[in-house]
Amino acid sequence: MSNTFTVNNPATGETLATITRNSEEEINKALQTGHEAFQSWKKTNAHERSRLLEKWSQLIQKNKLEIATVMTKENGKPLAESIGEVDYATSYIDWYAEEAKRLYGRTVPAHVDGKRLLVSKHPIGLVAAITPWNFPAAMMTRKAAPALAAGCTFIVKPAEETPLTTIRLTELAHEAGIPTDVIQCVNGKGRIVGKVFTDSPLVKKLTFTGSTPVGKALIKASADTVKSVTMELGGHAPVIVAKDADIDKAVEQTIITKFRNAGQTCVCANRIIVHESIVDEFSTKLAEKTKQLVVGNGLDENTDVGPVINEGSYEKIVHQIEDAVTKGAQVLAGAEYDVDENKKCFFVYPTILTDVTDKMEIMHEETFGPVAPITTFSELDEAIKIANNTPYGLAAYFFTNDYRIGNYLFDNLDYGIIGWNDGAPSAAHIPFGGMKESGLGREGGTEGIEPYLETKYLSIGNLID
Ligand code: SIN
Repeated sequence: MSNTFTVNNPATGETLATITRNSEEEINKALQTGHEAFQSWKKTNAHERSRLLEKWSQLIQKNKLEIATVMTKENGKPLAESIGEVDYATSYIDWYAEEAKRLYGRTVPAHVDGKRLLVSKHPIGLVAAITPWNFPAAMMTRKAAPALAAGCTFIVKPAEETPLTTIRLTELAHEAGIPTDVIQCVNGKGRIVGKVFTDSPLVKKLTFTGSTPVGKALIKASADTVKSVTMELGGHAPVIVAKDADIDKAVEQTIITKFRNAGQTCVCANRIIVHESIVDEFSTKLAEKTKQLVVGNGLDENTDVGPVINEGSYEKIVHQIEDAVTKGAQVLAGAEYDVDENKKCFFVYPTILTDVTDKMEIMHEETFGPVAPITTFSELDEAIKIANNTPYGLAAYFFTNDYRIGNYLFDNLDYGIIGWNDGAPSAAHIPFGGMKESGLGREGGTEGIEPYLETKYLSIGNLID
C-alpha cells in the first residue's frame, strides 16, 4: 500500500494535498508519547485545562474563514455550512472548558459510625479517536474537548477524505499551548490505524463516529484489552407528520434536516411518514421547495447542496433511487445527476420520492444522500411501527401541534435524539447519541464527559477511637 494519499476536492476533482500515512511503528510511538504525557497532563489543574481550551477555541474562531474554506474544499459542503460547523465545533470546546471545572465527586453517608466514604472522578487515560469525513471539525472537537477537559491525552485519526481540517485544528491546539504530545493527529487507513489503536493496552478509551459495521468491528477488537468505547454509528431517521401538523413548518424543517450537508449526516431524515389526509399537500410543497435548492460547488455563494463525497456514495444513492422507482415510487423532484467526465465529481439533485413502500431498500438502509422518500400512515400506532422498524435508533423527528400526540410519540419512539417541530436539535449542551445499533454512549452535554472519567471510591475507617 502506498504510504501517501491525496485529498481531493469533490466539487472540482482538484488535488488539494498529498498526505503521508503514518507507519504502524510511528502510530505506536505516538501512543507511547500520549501515554507518557498523560502522567503530567492529568495533574494540571482543571482551571488551567479550561483556560487552554478557551484559548484553543479563540484561535479557531480567529481563523474561522480559513478553516471553513479548507473544509468546503475537502468535504464539498456549502461555505455557510462550513462556517456554521466551525461555530458548532468551538461550542463543544467552550462547553467542556466550563465542564472541566465541574468534575465533582461526592461524600456518601456512611453505614458505620466514624467512617467517611468519598467518591471522586479521575481521567481515564489516553483516548484514541477515529472521526468521519462528514463533520471533520465538530466530530473531532466533540471528542477532544471532553477528553482534554477531563485530564486525558488524545490522539485522533481523521478520515482520509477530509484530514486537512483536523490537521489544522490540531496545529491550533498546539499554538494555544496544549502540549504537542497531549493532542496528536495521525493519518492512515482506518483498518490499519484502528487495529493499532484497539490492540494497544495504552489506549484506555476508543471513541468512533462512523458506520455501524465498522463500529461493531471496533467494539469486538476492543474486547481483548477491555477498552471503554463510545460509538456514534449509523441512523435511519424517521420524520412523522401528523394530520394536525403545521405543513409549512414541517416542510421547512424537513428541508433543513434532509438536505444539510447533501443528506450526508447520521441524523438526517431518511423516511418521511405522512398522514394520508395531508400527504398530497405536504409532498407538493416539499417538492416545490426542493426544486429551488441550488446544487453546485460549495464555494459558490448561491450553492445550497454540494457534491456527494465519492463514487461509492454516489452509486449507493443512485441504486436506492432506481430500486425505489423500479418498485413503483414516483419522482416529484430530482433523480437527476451530474458526473464529470473523469468520474471524480458526483452531484445528486435533491430528490423527492412518493408512493414509497416497505419493499424498497431506501426504507431499510441508510442513504447518506439528498433523497427524501415519502410513505403514508392512517393511525398513529402504524407510524410508530414504521418508524421503529429498523435496527437503528439515532434521531427521529415529528410534527404536530397536539400536546397529547407529541408526548405519545416521544414516549414510543425508540430513538436517542428527538425533534418535535424541530429539524435541527443538535447542540453542544445536549446528549447526542443513539439507541439500538446506532451506538453506545452519548457525546455532548453533561453526559459527554462521563466516558472520559473513571470513578474511584475511598472508604476511610475511624482514625480516632
Ligand atoms: C453526524 O451526523 O454525525 C453529526 C450531526 C450533528 O452533530 O448534528
